[in-house]
Amino acid sequence: MNSAIPSGHGEETRRFRERDADVEAAFFLPHLHSGMTLLDAGCGPGSITSGLAGHVSPGEITGIDSDPARIDSAAHDALANGIVNLSYEVADVTDLPFEDDQFDAVFANGLIEHLPVPGDGVAELTRVLRPGGIIGLRSPDWGMALLHPDSDGLRDSIALRNRWQRSRGGHPEAGRLLRGLLTDAGFDEVVAGSTADSHGTDAGTAEGVRYMHSILNDPELGTLAQENDWTSASDMEAMRQAWTDWSQQPGAFASFFWCHATGRKPVG
Ligand SMILES: C[S@@+](CC[C@H](N)C(=O)[O-])C[C@H]1O[C@@H](n2cnc3c(N)ncnc32)[C@H](O)[C@@H]1O
Repeated sequence: MNSAIPSGHGEETRRFRERDADVEAAFFLPHLHSGMTLLDAGCGPGSITSGLAGHVSPGEITGIDSDPARIDSAAHDALANGIVNLSYEVADVTDLPFEDDQFDAVFANGLIEHLPVPGDGVAELTRVLRPGGIIGLRSPDWGMALLHPDSDGLRDSIALRNRWQRSRGGHPEAGRLLRGLLTDAGFDEVVAGSTADSHGTDAGTAEGVRYMHSILNDPELGTLAQENDWTSASDMEAMRQAWTDWSQQPGAFASFFWCHATGRKPVG
C-alpha cells in the first residue's frame, strides 16, 4: 500500500517539484563525486533527482517511483532541461529491476515513511548497492513540532494527520528510525542527524496553512474520520480555523523535523 497522504495529486506534486537537491540532500552531497552511479528511489517528479545528476555527472543517475504519472513528469522535465545522464523507470523499491551491487550510491528522500515494512525497502536498496557504496535516507518525523502560538486545534490536526497516515500503513515518526534501519541492515559508518523545516515568513506560514488545509479538506480523511469516529466534521472545521487564525498572528512560527542517515555497505 502506498501510504502517501493523498492531499490531492496536483497539490502534492507541486510541493515536491519545489524541492532542491542542495537543500534536501545536503547531508548526502559530501559523499557524491563525479562519475558515480546513483539510484534515487521514490524520486517523485524528479526535482531532487535532476539536482543530484549534476553532482555525479558524467556518472549515470536513475530515478524510480511506483507512480507512473510522477515518472512521466520527471522524464518530461529532464528532457526539457537537457539532462543527459538521467533516466527514469516505474518500479517498486521493494522489488527493484536492477542487478545486485549495481550502484555506487543509493538515496531516498521522503520514501521510507510510506513503506508498510520499511526494512523491506532498505533490504532491496542494500542489494543493489555495491560493497563499499553509500546509502542516504531522509524522512520527516511528525512526532514533534514547534508551534507558536500553540493551540489544541493545531495539535489535534497533526494527530489526525498522523492517525490517517498510520491507517494507510505509513509511519509518521519514521525519521527517528532511520539510524536503526541502517544498523539493523548491517551498514558501517552509520551517521544520523536532523534538520528543521521552518515556516517563519508570511509566505512560509501561508504554505504551512495550505498544506494542513489540503489534509483537512481531503474527502478520504473526512470519510475515514467519520466512519472510525476519529473526530467530527465540526471539530475538523475548528482545526482548519485554528490554522487560519495561527497564520494571521504576526509572530506565527512553526518548525517540523526531518531526519537523515547515511551508511556504508560493508566490503566482503
Ligand atoms: C513524499 S514523495 C517524495 C518524492 C521525492 N523523493 C521528493 O522528495 O520530492 C514519495 C514518493 O514515493 C513514491 N513511493 C511510495 N511508495 C513507493 C514504493 N513502494 N516504491 C517506489 N516508490 C514509492 C510515491 O509515489 C511518491 O512519489
